[in-house]
Amino acid sequence: MNGKTTRKKANHVKQGLSLINSYTIQERFRCETPLNKLLTVNIAGLKLHSPTALASGILGYTSESLKRVEKGGAGAVVTKSVGVAPRPGYPNPTVVQASSGLINAVGLPNSGIDEYVNELTFAKTIVKVPLIVSVFGYTAEEYALVSRKAVEAGADALELNVSCPHVKFTGSEIGQNPKLLTDVIRRVKADIQKPVIVKLSPNVTDITEIAKAAEKAGADALTVINTVRALAIDVETQSSILSNVRGGLSGPAIKPIGLRCVYDVFEAVKIPVFGCGGITSWRDAVEFFLAGASAIQVGTAMGFEDPTVFQAINRGVTSYLKRKGYGSVKEIVGLCHQA
Ligand SMILES: Cc1cc2nc3c(=O)[nH]c(=O)nc-3n(C[C@H](O)[C@H](O)[C@H](O)COP(=O)(O)O)c2cc1C
Repeated sequence: MNGKTTRKKANHVKQGLSLINSYTIQERFRCETPLNKLLTVNIAGLKLHSPTALASGILGYTSESLKRVEKGGAGAVVTKSVGVAPRPGYPNPTVVQASSGLINAVGLPNSGIDEYVNELTFAKTIVKVPLIVSVFGYTAEEYALVSRKAVEAGADALELNVSCPHVKFTGSEIGQNPKLLTDVIRRVKADIQKPVIVKLSPNVTDITEIAKAAEKAGADALTVINTVRALAIDVETQSSILSNVRGGLSGPAIKPIGLRCVYDVFEAVKIPVFGCGGITSWRDAVEFFLAGASAIQVGTAMGFEDPTVFQAINRGVTSYLKRKGYGSVKEIVGLCHQA
């Protein structure tokens, strides 16, 4: 390629980028108020003023971070997963950038539920949207114990993380095994009155089998999906980049996988679904609603952008609903299945 062609190409890219930027800015500020009747949803007994929620793990635990997300337009927040005992997580590197996404193996670092209840109690005084506490454990008893303590501290709902792809003996091992999963859900449901949401892994042969088991065991809703098992290699050191070797891929790269999983799960169960995986824009959100999600969760995009990503999605969804003549986001849930 000669210098002229390279310059020409560079100009094309520049023009393209400025078009994308002005489009994004227009999309962000075109619609009026982000909070309105069109966006209100009920999911598993939780009333959300907007169908966009923060996904677990992206902002950790602090009440102030959760409040920032609420101010940014999120209709609910999910905390980082918490277990019985404190865990330091894995040594660095724990996150690596991939094409259109991130691969992480942070190793479920957390303070343990006994320490976390103080933060939770405070969070309940400042965060007004539903506070969903993500819970993990190594046994059904541990899941139940953490869930009980979280509810006592004010959790509005629990999300059971049975799908972490990079910590042994919790997460995926449970979420890939219908029998273990059933035990965990039944044990948690026996102890608490709050809604129990179960977060599913895409790293299974048939996600509908797991979704059906969760529904049968009493899950009130599902979150679909957690990260996709992945690997990154450094060609100079000729070794894997993450200290844990394997990690979980998130971000735009997994959106088509998340969408397919939501589509399949919607056909398999009656309980509502939080769609998750690579959502960065209102278009992504609408695709998930059409596939069958009643609400959506945003993770990596929140890390790449800032909490206003929720407002931007809410505005775009509002304008889409008005343009198409719908009175509520509920009216488009699963529409793609009728086509
Ligand atoms: C750095 C990082 C930490 C995460 N920690 C958790 C976690 O503690 N519990 C959990 O259920 N999911 C966790 N996830 C998964 C996200 O909640 C989400 O399911 C996944 O990233 C896909 O959504 P996204 O593409 O919008 O990020 C984590 C994801 C990332 C990137």
